[in-house]
Order: sequence, then C-alpha cells, then structure tokens
Amino acid sequence: MADLLKLGVLISGNGSNLQSIIDHIEKGSLQAVIKIIISNNPDAYGLSRAKKHGIPFVVLKNGNFKNKEDFDAELVRILKDNGVELVILAGFMRIISPDFIKAFSGKIMNIHPALLPSFPGLHGQRQAVEYGVKFSGCTVHFVNEGVDTGPIIIQSAVPVLDDDTEDTLAARILKEEHRIYPQAIQLFADGKLEIKGRKVRIKN
Ligand code: GAR
Repeated sequence: MADLLKLGVLISGNGSNLQSIIDHIEKGSLQAVIKIIISNNPDAYGLSRAKKHGIPFVVLKNGNFKNKEDFDAELVRILKDNGVELVILAGFMRIISPDFIKAFSGKIMNIHPALLPSFPGLHGQRQAVEYGVKFSGCTVHFVNEGVDTGPIIIQSAVPVLDDDTEDTLAARILKEEHRIYPQAIQLFADGKLEIKGRKVRIKN
C-alpha cells in the first residue's frame, strides 16, 4: 500500500469538517492519516473529537504569543515535526502569515462557506442571505496570501430559499462541505491537482 498522506488539521471550533475527514479516513474513502490537530481555542469542541478518536492534538493560545509571527512559527514547527504533507484549515478562524504560507507553499487547503470570490471573510452564509443571492455554497481552495483568494479546487452550490436564515443556509452548506473537503484531499493524495497560476487542473 502506498504511504498515507500525512495531514495536519487546524481548527478553532466545532470541528464538523474535521469529523467528516476522520469518518472518511476510518471508512477507507480517504487515504490519509491525521498526524496532528491544532486548535487556537482551548474550548473548541473539535478537541473532544480528537480525544474520542485518539488523534494527537495541541492547543496554541493566541494570547501566549508576542505576535502573529511567533504564533505561526510555532505552528510551522509543530507541523514539520509531525511530518505533515498537507495542512487542512477546517474552521480555523485566523489569517495565516506569509511565512507560514511559504513554509507550506501549495500545501495548505481551506474551506469557505460561500461560492468564492463571492462573500469572502467572516460570515459567508450571513452575507449571502443578506445580499439576496439565489444560490450559494462552499469552496475548497489552496491558500495564498490573500483572504480567501487562492486557486479553487472544488465548489458545490446549494439553493438559497426565501425563508432561509443564516443558520438554515449554513446547515445546508455544511452538508456539502463535509462531502467536498475529503474529496479535494483525496485528489491531492492521488497527485491529481495541478496548480497553474489561478487555476487548479484536476488530472484524469
Ligand atoms: C465551516 O462552515 C467553514 O466553512 C467555516 O467555518 C465553519 C467551521 O465549521 N470557515 C470559515 O468561515 C473560514 N473563513 P466546523 O468547525 O464545524 O468544521
């Protein structure tokens, strides 16, 4: 069997995307192994998921570091020490620094709850409801130095209904997130993603 792709998963909260990645690994539909989970929030529910599945985790508190650069240097050290080959941002609510991006160039993925480039930044679902779009969705993309601007790997669209609230739309989008994030990771594991400028080509 080929070596499993080594993942480092960064979370800040509930960790339902983390759970979906764990589930796909456990049922054999994702050929990867989570080497380390890192949370910047000691109360993140995702940490209970890590414990339940016996996956190593680390908490890095924002306040324990002098600045963003020191925090990110520690992140990079932990990820490298664990031999991480692909960094997965799964509801990680921090903007990462250029040095971090350089250290894992082309090897950091993020999931965003909107069809980028629409509604980047915080509260993508609320922005979609307030704007009045008829479709929204989610985007898995490689991370570059902008906020939610990196090359897009997979998107999935869902309808926005007349009586949707931020929460009902978020739930509909989340189902799709749980489907496409493991898919994008598997494509990476299979060596099928080729980044060319802004575009990601999926090789046959
Ligand atoms: C997800 O909806 C994810 O797309 C979003 O946070 C949620 C995390 O949920 N990420 C962002 O908004 C990043 N800008 P989870 O902790 O249950 O996976």
